[in-house]
Amino acid sequence: MTNEKIKFSPIIVGTMRLGAWGAKMNTSELERFVESCLEMGLNDFDHADIYGHYTTEEDFGKLLQSNSSLRSKIQITTKCGIKLVSENRPDYSINSYDSSKQHIIQSAENSLQFLSTDYLDLLLIHRPDFLMNPHEIAEAFQILKTSGKVKHFGVSNFTPQQFDLLNQFTPLATNQVEISIKHLNCFEDGTLLQCQKHNITPTAWSPLGGGDVFRLSSDPKILRIREVGNELAKKYNATLDQILLAWLNAHPSEIVSVIGTSKIERVKSSLEALNIKLTKEDWYRLWKSSTGSEIA
Ligand SMILES: NC(=O)c1ccc[n+]([C@@H]2O[C@H](COP(=O)([O-])OP(=O)(O)OC[C@H]3O[C@@H](n4cnc5c(N)ncnc54)[C@H](OP(=O)(O)O)[C@@H]3O)[C@@H](O)[C@H]2O)c1
Repeated sequence: MTNEKIKFSPIIVGTMRLGAWGAKMNTSELERFVESCLEMGLNDFDHADIYGHYTTEEDFGKLLQSNSSLRSKIQITTKCGIKLVSENRPDYSINSYDSSKQHIIQSAENSLQFLSTDYLDLLLIHRPDFLMNPHEIAEAFQILKTSGKVKHFGVSNFTPQQFDLLNQFTPLATNQVEISIKHLNCFEDGTLLQCQKHNITPTAWSPLGGGDVFRLSSDPKILRIREVGNELAKKYNATLDQILLAWLNAHPSEIVSVIGTSKIERVKSSLEALNIKLTKEDWYRLWKSSTGSEIA
């Protein structure tokens, strides 16, 4: 299956921590944040139906309703397939996955309504469903594509084998996976190689390890990462977060980070990080700080 190359902005802005699960921005705060991102050339916003216990899409939708010129300037990714027990979903009795045709279509319809838009740029299956039927997912994607409701499709947290299976039936535009100095699996399990092979852009969630490297910690791995990261920050006249993003950006698969900050100055600093070019030795210094073991 030939994969469609989707053009992302240099950094994708995650919305998980902007609403009820974090900064609790009201519409005007969200507007300032989104407008500032756009001024920097960042027009990609990453959602999921579940964020804020099913409320953050709606928060964003209120902004799109109040400022109708915004929709055409941005790209919206959202995700479906996790059923999260929540007072906003009283029918769910256990956290579970559902990638049935009916659930995907209903979830996309809900997202369109909450986001106050008539199309989504990218819809991802949020996590692999052990009961997934690739034919059924492909059928759902086809229906959503033909009706003009969704432009592109992809997955998140899929293993290379799961990606391959679904990609045989429907072209996938990305695998959004956890990649950071704290979480190295994708470098070793074939995920990034697969993206390179199919010319697909990998997108990295929690690129700063969810902020763990900045918090008080006694974890030896975090302490090692922080020590080496801060040394490199001095060397490159940068900040620790910039070094960690530059580290991801150095990979030839052209990883695009999905950042999670709610502070606009940190968004700016993340974008500036893309100008930092680490030497290969410094890249491996950070790798070693994470694994704690000699490389060769
Ligand atoms: N597909 C999936 O399964 C999945 C899973 C999780 C997340 N996501 C997506 O990925 C996005 C990013 O995830 P994430 O929020 O975990 O990413 P992250 O960028 O690794 O972490 C963001 C956290 O780090 C803090 N932070 C950033 N820079 C800092 C600094 N210099 N000093 C101190 N704290 C700093 C932020 O706090 P401040 O707000 O104070 O800056 C925020 O709490 C989410 O919004 C969501 O869109 C996807």
